[in-house]
Amino acid sequence: MEDHRTPAQTETIFTQVVQPNDTNPLGNLHGGRLLYWMDECSAIAATKLSRAVVVTVSVDGVSFKNSIDVGDIVVIKAKVTRTFRTSMEVFIEVWSENIPNNEKVKCNEAYYTFVALDDARRPKPVPELVPETDEEKRLYDGAIRRRQVRLILGGKMKVEDANELRALFMKE
Ligand SMILES: CC(C)(COP(=O)(O)OP(=O)(O)OC[C@H]1O[C@@H](n2cnc3c(N)ncnc32)[C@H](O)[C@@H]1OP(=O)(O)O)[C@@H](O)C(=O)NCCC(=O)NCCS
Repeated sequence: MEDHRTPAQTETIFTQVVQPNDTNPLGNLHGGRLLYWMDECSAIAATKLSRAVVVTVSVDGVSFKNSIDVGDIVVIKAKVTRTFRTSMEVFIEVWSENIPNNEKVKCNEAYYTFVALDDARRPKPVPELVPETDEEKRLYDGAIRRRQVRLILGGKMKVEDANELRALFMKE
């Protein structure tokens, strides 16, 4: 394999204190601000993989399990899970930390998909990703099915062409 990367080479960690201007009137972090930070962190992971300018093409359903308070530390970790031709999936995990109370709570997870672009802003092929750990292999295997769901919902793939996804539900 000539030009390949590992998930570890794409790992990106973002750490930020929640300031009053990041919050809603209840003193909790705005969901939109968190989505922006998640996009920034995962775009850096995708850039490490592709060494190209990347754009977000899809964000999977994100749910907010726990609110994050002003003064808490937000920690976001992003890693590429799999590459396709010009696109790549990034897995993001978010925690809130209250350091004085020694508390760390997982707040949410998400998958973002990016496309690498060339100088003419056309989709550009990306290097292959080779998973190493069991967890990275699990995420890599699931990525093909998550991609098929996205492409079907985005009107870019027919259900009958989504072989790996159909295999989950049907015995043919
Ligand atoms: C990303 C973009 C360049 C793709 O252009 P396109 O004409 O759809 O190009 P393609 O059909 O060749 O798709 C390119 C890749 O995106 C993937 N893709 C397209 N739509 C997708 C979707 N909804 N979900 C996941 N992947 C998608 C394709 O599968 C393809 O991946 P592959 O090469 O790995 O197989 C174009 O849609 C775009 O510029 N979007 C706006 C991006 C942006 O501005 N993001 C910020 C939001 S404000």
